[in-house]
Amino acid sequence: METGIKGKTAVVTGAGSGIGRATALAFAAAGAKVVVAEKDEASGKTTMQMIQAQGGEAMFIMTDVAKAGDVELMLAMAEQRFGTVDFAFNNAGVEGISSPTHECSASNWDQTMAVDLRGTWICMKSEIATMLRHTGGVVVNCSSIAGLVGFEGMPAYVAAKHGVAGLTKTAALEYAQKNIRVNAVCPGVIHTAMVDRVAGNDPAALASFAAMAPMGRMGKPEEIASVVLWLCSDQAGYVTGAVIPVDGGYMAR
Ligand SMILES: NC(=O)c1ccc[n+]([C@@H]2O[C@H](COP(=O)([O-])OP(=O)(O)OC[C@H]3O[C@@H](n4cnc5c(N)ncnc54)[C@H](O)[C@@H]3O)[C@@H](O)[C@H]2O)c1
Repeated sequence: METGIKGKTAVVTGAGSGIGRATALAFAAAGAKVVVAEKDEASGKTTMQMIQAQGGEAMFIMTDVAKAGDVELMLAMAEQRFGTVDFAFNNAGVEGISSPTHECSASNWDQTMAVDLRGTWICMKSEIATMLRHTGGVVVNCSSIAGLVGFEGMPAYVAAKHGVAGLTKTAALEYAQKNIRVNAVCPGVIHTAMVDRVAGNDPAALASFAAMAPMGRMGKPEEIASVVLWLCSDQAGYVTGAVIPVDGGYMAR
């Protein structure tokens, strides 16, 4: 089936690990040119090399999404090399430090917000400006089931991810007639380095994460990537402003 992804350009932030890397690889496998935007140089370069090793085209640009200058430069370099940016997956995120609301420090709040919410907005600004200069495009933001319901001990993360859902809906309305669709995925517990960190690499904690989902298992990064690619595809041409759980049934409870 023709998806409209082949030959186009996709930016993936936080593409050095987990969901971001899986999505970068999936875009490349579908024939897109991929901009690997990642703040960690070693892991970002590895993703670029993995794409090149499978015959794809990729460019690594060291990018901290919390820094507007980094993001503007990354989009300018992507536009210069590939002509435009057709798809953007704003995936970079941090979990922050777990603590109840009254013990959440201002620095934990600020750092989590700076990456997860402000970083997403900063990326959207430059991506949408680029898309408007050309023929449009598709933005997919990475929210979370923590963007749909509360989770104890994660006030900054939950607030940031709810914010991402709101940003997504607002931009979807603003650009609905400009050929730019904006959607969000809300992963459930997906087995990545982030989850290993949160679980402290404790098998019992990982098992309890798996049990949270009605399907009785954690998701795989590739199971988020495939939804992101579908959202970017022509098959999702009438989908905008959607905030979609991909969570093994968690939100159905
Ligand atoms: N894994 C899950 O269960 C889960 C669930 C819901 C939502 N999410 C969201 O999915 C996204 C990816 O998470 P993951 O599980 O793959 O995590 P991960 O830690 O495996 O990967 C995150 C990547 O983002 C990069 N990154 C962090 N801060 C950055 C910054 N300021 N600028 C650029 N890159 C930065 C990291 O270096 C890393 O490569 C995050 O937004 C996360 O909140 C994950």
